[in-house]
Amino acid sequence: MDEITEVRHTPRAAPAQDTDVLFQPYRLGRFRLPHRIVMAPLTRSRARQPGNVPSALAACYYAQRASAALIVSEATQVSMQGQGYAWTPGIHSREQVEAWRQVTRAVHQAGGLIFNQLWHVGRISHPALQPDNMLPVAPSAIIPEGKAFIENERGEGELVPFVRPRALTIEEMPYVVAQYERAARNAQAADFDGVEIHAANGYLLDQFIETGTNRRTDPYGGPVENRARLLFEIAEALIPIWGPDRIGVRLSPLGKLNDIHDDNPEATFGYIAERLSDYGLAYLHSVNPAQVQSGKEPDRLALSVVKLIRKNYKGTLIVAGGFQADSAARWLREGDADLIAFGRKFIANPDLPERLRIGAPFNVDDPTTYYGGGEKGYTDYPSLAQDRGEQPKACVDQRWR
Ligand SMILES: Cc1cc2nc3c(=O)[nH]c(=O)nc-3n(C[C@H](O)[C@H](O)[C@H](O)COP(=O)(O)O)c2cc1C
Repeated sequence: MDEITEVRHTPRAAPAQDTDVLFQPYRLGRFRLPHRIVMAPLTRSRARQPGNVPSALAACYYAQRASAALIVSEATQVSMQGQGYAWTPGIHSREQVEAWRQVTRAVHQAGGLIFNQLWHVGRISHPALQPDNMLPVAPSAIIPEGKAFIENERGEGELVPFVRPRALTIEEMPYVVAQYERAARNAQAADFDGVEIHAANGYLLDQFIETGTNRRTDPYGGPVENRARLLFEIAEALIPIWGPDRIGVRLSPLGKLNDIHDDNPEATFGYIAERLSDYGLAYLHSVNPAQVQSGKEPDRLALSVVKLIRKNYKGTLIVAGGFQADSAARWLREGDADLIAFGRKFIANPDLPERLRIGAPFNVDDPTTYYGGGEKGYTDYPSLAQDRGEQPKACVDQRWR
């Protein structure tokens, strides 16, 4: 038995008619989406070395998933300073831009739409990943709990303790904005359809936003208006480049990833959602704090924050996190979200929308192949067509290697 046929299947999730709402078209600003199923940003740590360049396989991987209404690319560092893990791709060098152009071309040829998720990790890094082995930067010099993922001398991945980051000086703040600006221009040169500002999951912008990581006493610290300043400055810098309707923002209220914490998440995220409405962006993308897991009711605070964001944000809301077919349909039906993003299900099911539409079983994702490696667990999950015996399309353009 080959590896592909070993992929396990889960039982049918829900009768197809219950999920009809997932297949209502949606107008996302200038884009007409055929349905409501978005591919969430997913780091896969397979960038070509040296240089953190998207590989030919990445073009294949994304093209396989082009039936998503919108693909949000894996987080992509805006600069060398913005990198926090070995083997993640960037969008700051010419070679990276050229390679991303092959990715977007493959997605467009397959009929898809793809935004680039712009990423600066802040303190979630290590000198081994920084230019000239410098210290990672952060709003404040607070060491995160946990470990950084670096490449050791033998070229292998290794987990090493985080170091105390250096607090950004106020003079450096325009330089941080400029990193995003340059990356946004590069994303345009690479023919992306838009960009998503990654302000979630405990990375740099979230470190500024949340009280646990921001002890600043200057105009970037203290009240939420100050803590959110960097995010708004970046949004304002990107609008002249892309236009507001090709920019999304991702937040993760109540998220705990990367040792992040806020003393008053309702006030923090309620304010940011409200202010972001003023820009007329393509969307706000919220990681669902009320992770919808079967048999587990979300806690009251989580639910109230989701409702608050929905109420305060006047525009398209994408919600991601723990969705199944039935819960996704319920959220759409009850008006709690406009689009639903799926992460792990898209890793294992390149044709996820079709599977959801006909109520077909899902391939199960293999966490051991999430990060790093090659085709295995990346481009070799079978589609329904392959299950029926059809040959997979040749994916990698042999001229581009
Ligand atoms: C392997 C993996 C990589 C991820 N990489 C990113 C990323 O690059 N950017 C991001 O904002 N979220 C990232 N996430 C979070 C997902 O976008 C998503 O919010 C999460 O998986 C929950 O959705 P799910 O339950 O449908 O998988 C990642 C999650 C996984 C499992």
